[in-house]
Amino acid sequence: MAKKTSKSTANPSSINIGISDKDRAAMAEGLSKLLADTYTLYLTTHNFHWNVTGPMFNTLHQMFMVQYTELWNAVDPIAERIRSLGHVAPGSYAQFAKLSSLKDAPATPPKALEMVRILVEGHEGVARTARALFPLADQASDEPTADLLTQRLTVHEQTAWMLRSLLEE
Ligand SMILES: [Fe+2]
Repeated sequence: MAKKTSKSTANPSSINIGISDKDRAAMAEGLSKLLADTYTLYLTTHNFHWNVTGPMFNTLHQMFMVQYTELWNAVDPIAERIRSLGHVAPGSYAQFAKLSSLKDAPATPPKALEMVRILVEGHEGVARTARALFPLADQASDEPTADLLTQRLTVHEQTAWMLRSLLEE
């Protein structure tokens, strides 16, 4: 007969890494919002890569590809940090729609510069979501989450600046 393990690893309260259950739950909740924002911005950026038109086509088509690839690669470490904290990572459009602070991409593709403006707002929005979680990560001594947030903030603030620069005369 198979021996029953004392505590299931699926039970978040069986995890003992020096961060309280309450703090791990709060961190997972914040990271879930960051995951939803990042995924939504990924999809919008890929959509704009497909649908951009006009004289800036080549520049924007290429630029959006670099950006959506970076965002796609970013969702995995965010989701896996949630798992490391003992919680379930959201991964459905219904959950992301509920959790995300970003709007879905418009059904009709906007003009090229309007796409750029929407992406600036998106990167700023994700930066705000990441930054809002920082005090909690700090207070709970959750360095891996703080490190992840720092990396994400650097990317979103830099990308927002680059996109913003395209809107200047
Ligand atoms: Fe492509």
